[in-house]
Amino acid sequence: MIRIAVDEVSKHYERQAALRRVTVPVLDRVSFEIPRGQTLGLVGESGSGKSTLARIVLGLVEADAGQVRMDGVAVDATTIAGLRRRMQPVFQDPAAALDPRMRVVDLVTEPLVIHRSGARQSRASLRQAAAELLRSVGMDASALERYPHEFSGGQKQRINIARALALRPEILVLDEPVSALDVSVAAQVINLLRALQQELGMTYLFISHSMPLVRYLSTRIAVLEQGRIVEIGETEEVCQRPRAAYTRRLLEATPTLETA
Ligand SMILES: Nc1ncnc2c1ncn2[C@@H]1O[C@H](COP(=O)(O)OP(=O)(O)OP(=O)(O)O)[C@@H](O)[C@H]1O
Ligand SMILES: [Mg+2]
Repeated sequence: MIRIAVDEVSKHYERQAALRRVTVPVLDRVSFEIPRGQTLGLVGESGSGKSTLARIVLGLVEADAGQVRMDGVAVDATTIAGLRRRMQPVFQDPAAALDPRMRVVDLVTEPLVIHRSGARQSRASLRQAAAELLRSVGMDASALERYPHEFSGGQKQRINIARALALRPEILVLDEPVSALDVSVAAQVINLLRALQQELGMTYLFISHSMPLVRYLSTRIAVLEQGRIVEIGETEEVCQRPRAAYTRRLLEATPTLETA
């Protein structure tokens, strides 16, 4: 069963350059599918269009052409409200997504409060939900009353993941979720994401510029070069027998996970 289908998606931006407006093509007829429970790794250099694609999949940015479907339903202005809670993002900067004035208990349960505003939720039940969410990301209840600045980058990203899990999403869109973290901390968060996927059966779109990370986590890999998918296939196939010159360059540019 196909969870996410991206079909011929294109996007451009207009930019003012000196005295004229120039068209900047960002994505050119990008297509891929992600079967339920699998991870598609999207890899490419800075500026290749990865985040733009993530935002289009999440329904945060509109494509010029093409379509994204979730379980066969087109993601557009009329359907996004119903689909949004089933698909959650985790972004690169762990601090940016956390309001510094909110306690962890409120941060991780905010999605529950927003999406179930009709139902009454007691303070005690929200607290219990927050404790369970924290436990699922390897943190304990002592974090509940604390503020984001009291945590390390890795812990902040765990809090972001707990928040993303609050509505029990089927899909996570992970846009460079560990790029801001030290290597050893990044590895722990990656292992957490892997364990959560196995436990909860979620489908991942995992974005990174790091070939070793993508190789470690992905079922399949799509390689994006200047807005075009130049190669897509099973992870080991792509890494051991890359067909595109660009993929070979990415593989050569990055050490293996063990030596990173
Ligand atoms: N809102 C915007 N307005 C104009 N141009 C944009 C906008 N967002 C992105 N771009 C341009 O689109 C191109 C792709 O950007 P994008 O952020 O998708 O790349 P990326 O692969 O995520 O890069 P990185 O690895 O640095 O995160 C870049 O040239 C960028 O300058
Ligand atoms: Mg990006």
